[in-house]
Amino acid sequence: MNRLGRVFLVGAGPGDPELLTLKAARLIGRAEVVVHDRLVSAEVLALAPATARRISVGKAPKRHPVPQDQINEMLVSLAGQGLTVVRLKGGDPYIFGRGGEEVECLKAAGVPHEVVPGISAAQGCSASTGVPLTHRGLATGVRYVTGHCRADLPLDLDWAGMADPETTLVVYMGAASITEISDNLISHGMPAGLPVLAINNGTTPAERRLVARLDDIAGRAREANFDGPVLFIVGRVVSLYEECPDAAVARIAAELPREAVDA
Ligand SMILES: C[S@@+](CC[C@H](N)C(=O)[O-])C[C@H]1O[C@@H](n2cnc3c(N)ncnc32)[C@H](O)[C@@H]1O
Repeated sequence: MNRLGRVFLVGAGPGDPELLTLKAARLIGRAEVVVHDRLVSAEVLALAPATARRISVGKAPKRHPVPQDQINEMLVSLAGQGLTVVRLKGGDPYIFGRGGEEVECLKAAGVPHEVVPGISAAQGCSASTGVPLTHRGLATGVRYVTGHCRADLPLDLDWAGMADPETTLVVYMGAASITEISDNLISHGMPAGLPVLAINNGTTPAERRLVARLDDIAGRAREANFDGPVLFIVGRVVSLYEECPDAAVARIAAELPREAVDA
């Protein structure tokens, strides 16, 4: 009988390959099979051995090339063949990544597995745009929500809870539903003038940003015609955004004593 393989659910981060953890890079480099999502970058996939089998199970909005139950079965079956499988997911496997469902299935089948966290899109986009998700005096907490719902039903979210201007709201998968989201937030009391930052292809060379008021973000995002994943950060913390964060870094560097720069 074959030895039982092992499945590693690995977070690939938001796009920049340098945001992979050391553990993720090591596991990808030893994988016999890589089962990956659509948003995993080519640079990250290139870390797998040339001999590793690469299986794309990528999902696009409204398009599910490989249904989730087939992905679950595939992982169990590959491990049953004694293979070391890296299940590579964009961002973190446990944030809107269905990692929990895959783990449940692996557990039920008795397959040894491990979850390796990744930098989420929220963390990556926050860092790359210089907008902290919490900040003393501006946001006492942060909440992640999805703007996508099953079978195109209306969104079923806790609008009243989400409309709290003391908390930063991060909206994943909201590009198609941002009109519904902003309208509902405003009608549940969120200030219409609250700033929103939309980040497209965050942490990659194709990153684009857009800042607008909550009552204007849907139209502006439509005009921007984003291509690729989009994340919305809603809240007072967006007031800290500077058009070009690198300029701020340059300014700080210029103020440092010469010895510190040379060190
Ligand atoms: C299925 S969710 C996966 C989230 C992922 N597990 C995480 O931890 O970030 C996909 C959504 O994440 C967001 N996303 C992922 N990568 C992104 C990026 N590089 N820039 C902006 N948004 C991104 C988008 O909202 C996209 O629709």
